[in-house]
This record gives sequence, C-alpha cells and structure tokens, in this order.
Amino acid sequence: MAIKQRDGFSGKFGVIAAAAGSAVGLGNIWRFPYVTGENGGGAFLLLYVFFIIVIGVPVMMSEFVIGRRSQSNAFGAFRKLSPGSAWWIIGLMGIVAAFVILSFYSTVAGWTLEYVYQAFSGNFAGKNITQLNADFANFTSGSWRPLFWQMLFMIFTAGVVFAGVQKGIEKYTKILMPVLLVMIIAICVRSVTLPGAEKGLRFLFEPDFSKLSFQGVLTALGQAAFSLSIGMGALITYGSYVRKDTPLLSTAVQVATTDTIIAILSGVMIFPAIMALGQDPAAGPGLVFVTLPGIFQAMPGGFYFAIVFFVLLSVAALTSTISVLEVVVAFLIEERKMSRGKATLIGAGAISIIGVACTLSFGPLKDFKIFDKTVFDLMDYLSANIFLTFGALLIVIYTGWKLGKSNFVDEINQAAKIPKFLSSTIVFIIKYIAPLAIGAVAIGAFFFEGLT
Ligand code: PHE
Repeated sequence: MAIKQRDGFSGKFGVIAAAAGSAVGLGNIWRFPYVTGENGGGAFLLLYVFFIIVIGVPVMMSEFVIGRRSQSNAFGAFRKLSPGSAWWIIGLMGIVAAFVILSFYSTVAGWTLEYVYQAFSGNFAGKNITQLNADFANFTSGSWRPLFWQMLFMIFTAGVVFAGVQKGIEKYTKILMPVLLVMIIAICVRSVTLPGAEKGLRFLFEPDFSKLSFQGVLTALGQAAFSLSIGMGALITYGSYVRKDTPLLSTAVQVATTDTIIAILSGVMIFPAIMALGQDPAAGPGLVFVTLPGIFQAMPGGFYFAIVFFVLLSVAALTSTISVLEVVVAFLIEERKMSRGKATLIGAGAISIIGVACTLSFGPLKDFKIFDKTVFDLMDYLSANIFLTFGALLIVIYTGWKLGKSNFVDEINQAAKIPKFLSSTIVFIIKYIAPLAIGAVAIGAFFFEGLT
C-alpha cells in the first residue's frame, strides 16, 4: 500500500504562525479581560503569567514532541508511542474537549461577526455604556440572529479545515496577526489616555492577593491553558505536521511570548477604558463587546477602526477554531478512515448542535441551568478549568513518566542541540514541578471551595 504523504507546515515560520494563530484568539481579547475582571485584576494576572511559564511552555513542548514523534492525531499518537496502554484516553478527552470548546467559542465568534456588521452600519455612534449594554443584551438574547452568525462562522471554520492544513491554515495567520497587534497597540494608546484611565492600569497591574480565591487560582491556570491552546491535543495535532528541522523549544517560547503579550495588551486596552467609561470590570462575557465600541467612539477614525478591528478579531478567532476542529477531523481521517470532506462535515455538524444550546443560553434557554450555570457558562467553565487543566496534567505525567527523558530530549534536539542543563531542567519541570503545581491547584479548588 502506498503511504500517503502527510500534510505539513512549510517551515519554522509557518509553524509559529499556525501555533500562534491557534493560541491568539478570543481567549486573549474576550476571555482574558473578562476572567481577570471577575477575579480582581493584578494578582490574577501575576499568577496567569507564572502558570504560562512554569506549566504552559513545558506542556506545549510535550505536545509538540508527542505529535512530531508519533506523526499522528491526538488519539493515535498515544497508541503509536505506547501501544497496549490506556494513555489514548488523553486523546479521547481532547476530542471531547474540542466539542466543549468549539460549542461556546463559536457563539462568541458569531458575536464578533455581528459586531463587524454593526460597526459597518455605524451603529455604535453616539451611544453611552448603558445603551451599548442594552444593544448587546438585545442581540444576544435573540435566537435567529446570533444563531445565523454562529453557523456562518462554523461554515468558515469547516471551509478552512477542509482546504487542508498548510494551504488553509498557514496562509491567513502570516499576514493578519501582525496587523491585529498594531491595531491593539493603537487602541491601547487611546484607552490609556482617557480621563480616569490610571485606575484601570492599577486594577490590572497592582496585585491584591486578598481578592483571589482558590477558584480564582484554578481559573488563572485554566485561562493559561486555554489561551495557549494546550491540554486537548490541538498542539499534538499541529506538532505532527511540524518538520524535523524545526526547533521545538524556541517555537514554544515564541508562541507563548506572543500569546502572553497580546493578552496583556488586551488588558491594557480594556481596563483603563472600563474605568474611564464607568463599566463594571466583573460584567462577565459581554465585557469587551460593550467596552470596545465605547473606546472606538472616543477615537479619531473610530468608525473605520471598529470595522477593521472586529474583522481581525473574527480572523483571530478563526485561526483558533480551525485548530480545535482539526483535532476532531485528523482523528476521524486517521482512525476512522474518513475522507477529509466527510470528516469535516461530521465534526463541524455535530459540534454545531451543542453550539446551538450555547448560543440560546442568552435568550430562550437562559433559565435552563445545570450546576447553577447556563449551558454556555458550563461549557466555558468546563473547557478551561476542567478539561484543559486535567488534560495538561495527564500530558505532563505521560511525557515525564511514560515517554521518558531520552525520547523527549532526543526529539527536542532534532533541529538544534540545546544545552544539557536546559533540557534537564525542562524534564525536571515536566516530571515533578508541573504535575505537582496543577495537582495542588486542582485539589485546593475542589476540596476547599467545591466545584464552582
Ligand atoms: N487559544 C485559543 C484562544 O485563546 C482557544 C483555544 C483553546 C484553541 C484550546 C485551541 C485549543 O482563543
């Protein structure tokens, strides 16, 4: 039987663009500000950055190693590297996580499309925060309109995934991500020069640990995982498309750095404006959809800024959703022997069904609660705080204790040899520090404060 050449990235820049494209998304610009706002600001940010360094980068490297060494999807990878064992459960969890994440993520991604339309129609002009809040609530509590945008977004996602990894995924990220960064910086400048802005900067950068609960610590860890796209196999899948001459350590460091810079800049963009405009930082998932139109109105050329920004935000969301859907699609192609077209259709279709419930939880289903949360809130919570956190834990345990040091070090040294003390330190973190840290946070949150 002829072996079909696997699709892959063209080189180091392509990998970084695709992995950073996966990492940078609504997690940075929508989720990061809202969870930081709900958890008191500064102390949360500090912990978040700590988790990115101590847990995020090692887990990201582990995923790349598992993917590239096995040349397989997130599920097949474990069966190939450790045949006869049950570690494939990690891959299975990743596939479930893909459903959980994409169902609510596509709701928010749909909102960004609506806001492109709103920006285009000049609908923000002259509105104060109360009116912008009412507009947001009005739109999200509807049925057909938010559903329409969500489905359109799922179609875009499926379209890119269908086109294949290299052609579909690499192309867009390379050009559009730098533009997004420049836009964010410009908006930051406006935000920090608004009257009363320094209160927002203090909120973001002055740590006050008394505001942090165990659940807050877990949320910081979950957000770090969510934002880096780790813990569910997206980067195992992408790792399997990475060429042997790509250095994994520097790739992981660069992706994590880019992602963290964009998250922090999003904070600098949002919090000063929140304080200046008199909004509540703990307003929840609607936060940036009200704050951003508020800032645009105070900007010269705000009308155009709003359009371009929401377009880029949709693209940033798209480069993330394709990496989530690709986990499911690569699994269906390689393990269930489907064609890419059929796999994409089945994967995206099944996810969309749960997605409908998430979107409707702001309207017709708003009183339908499980564990006191709407379907949307439950998926949002479960994704980061349970699935990705637990997934990250299992991945470091697998890498540190099953895959073993020699395999790991051999793989990260493929492209360029890294100093021995550095690789030993990374292995030590993966084997001991990361699992203990994740375990301690999870135990603290569940045993002291319960599930929510
Ligand atoms: N990291 C993406 C974001 O911040 C979301 C994501 C999570 C993507 C998990 C893939 C896997 O928007």
